[in-house]
Amino acid sequence: MAKSYEAIFENNKKWVESKISGNPEYFHQLAQTQNPEYLYIGCSDSRVTAEDMMGAEPGEVFVHRNVANVINTLDMSSTAVIQYAVEHLKVKHIIVCGHYNCGGVKAAMTSQDLGLLNPWLRNIRDVYRLHQAELDAIEDEDKRYDRLVELNVQEQCINVIKMACVQERYILEEFPVVHGWVFDLRSGKIIDLEIDFENILKDIQKIYNLTDSDWVMSRKK
Ligand code: CO
Repeated sequence: MAKSYEAIFENNKKWVESKISGNPEYFHQLAQTQNPEYLYIGCSDSRVTAEDMMGAEPGEVFVHRNVANVINTLDMSSTAVIQYAVEHLKVKHIIVCGHYNCGGVKAAMTSQDLGLLNPWLRNIRDVYRLHQAELDAIEDEDKRYDRLVELNVQEQCINVIKMACVQERYILEEFPVVHGWVFDLRSGKIIDLEIDFENILKDIQKIYNLTDSDWVMSRKK
């Protein structure tokens, strides 16, 4: 399965040829601008290939990946990606995609000092604590692990919805809509967790309301 380093450039050459064989202007057009409708936030895991599994072409998906698809308010990288995607690219959908067999989630379930990974994986331990009653009630460890993967996606969706730029843009334009997915490595299928975006947003605004509706609506006029 592993390819030699040199093979990558050979593959790239073939890829370029295949793209321009049907359309000699392909890269010229690609270089002009991007107008993606989707922001995809997923795990860095090498087996979860964002564009490939979605059948997406270059220019269609704005992508951010990190260990265990975590969105944390103190992480400048993911929050900058979201802000840029929402305010400048005006994406219609934000997808948070976790996956079963996630090493990051597994690590957060073990009693181990993982050094620099500790503060990052703390975010997932916090998800466990929020849902401890439900998770502890699952006796089968593999099933508990799968469920934590799903709950982590759900909580990271909530973290996206907590952001002011997401709330404001939604009041103004009725997008972006936030979706939670799990990629099942065992079948290759994407599972939509069908999180209730509208109700989560309403609920969240009781505490995390960062928008002044009158001000936002005055911008609409
Ligand atoms: Co992972």
